[in-house]
Amino acid sequence: MKPLPWVSLVLLGLGPLAIARADESQLQLRDGPEAATVRASCSACHSVDYIGMNSPFMNRAAWEAEVRKMIKVMGAPVREEDVAPIVNYLTQHYGIE
Ligand code: HEC
Repeated sequence: MKPLPWVSLVLLGLGPLAIARADESQLQLRDGPEAATVRASCSACHSVDYIGMNSPFMNRAAWEAEVRKMIKVMGAPVREEDVAPIVNYLTQHYGIE
């Protein structure tokens, strides 16, 4: 359903690098009280660039599903009480509403 981020990664020639060098994010997370939580929760396995790359087509429901998928499928160590603030932040700064 979501080939677009990978297509753009491949076009940029960054596919393997984006994962191997997760700390070299191009994206500067926009300020907000939850930015630190998002950085801590979402940059362990891949750079936060993934957030920016997906932002053109993510509404609240899509971000909620994405965060849940990261937790359930990928095993992201996100505390339950952090889910709502993270989804709010992503929707507000990187979403279409
Ligand atoms: C435990 C490792 C891990 C953590 C932590 C993690 N992710 Fe991911 N994420 C992945 C993997 C692996 C992929 C590639 C999935 C694939 O191939 O479909 C991915 C892909 C993505 C994508 C690209 C779209 C997709 O679904 O493939 C987005 C957006 C994303 N992650 C957002 C997040 C956000 C937001 C957080 C924080 C809540 C987060 N990730 C935390 C492992 C993680």
